[in-house]
Amino acid sequence: MSTTQNLVYSAIQVVHNFGAVATVGGSIAAMLAPPEARRKIAWLVLAGWTIQAVSGPSFGMASYYFDEKFPDIGEIAITALTIKIVCVALGFTLVAAYFCPCERYLASCANCLERLRSLIWPASTLLAVTALTAAAFLRWFA
Ligand code: HEM
Repeated sequence: MSTTQNLVYSAIQVVHNFGAVATVGGSIAAMLAPPEARRKIAWLVLAGWTIQAVSGPSFGMASYYFDEKFPDIGEIAITALTIKIVCVALGFTLVAAYFCPCERYLASCANCLERLRSLIWPASTLLAVTALTAAAFLRWFA
């Protein structure tokens, strides 16, 4: 592998690693924070899921650019990759839903929305931890 290719992978990996920190750490922080402090953390977690959605596929695009083909990975690595993609899709959607101005649809139950919103953080934590676990399998079975 050329130095340029290694540099490109390393740059993507740096971004991807910080995205992982934002999703895992931010989701846990939001889960433990009082509801009124969650909004700012929610932006961090949304940024984290977005970064993962862009940087993850960038590994594949870099491979395609340099090698003119995608890496030939086995069944376990494909399963791990699929799990990561599903986690990113669900994590991003859930955290984006946190910002939905849904008050008017649940006007009859003032507490319902807050209760529903508070479920987002354990779910986002679970998805981020699952993706992080899948990353280890992708790394060593790819
Ligand atoms: C669209 C979703 C994602 C895709 C396509 C993706 C893809 C990748 C790829 C191709 C690698 C390099 C694997 C290798 O070294 O052979 C990687 C590494 C990694 N990914 Fe992801 N990823 C995604 C989401 C995530 C998420 C959500 C997390 C954590 C929350 C995560 C955490 C990591 C970590 C920690 C590594 C480094 C693993 C290591 O080298 O030990 N990824 N990812």
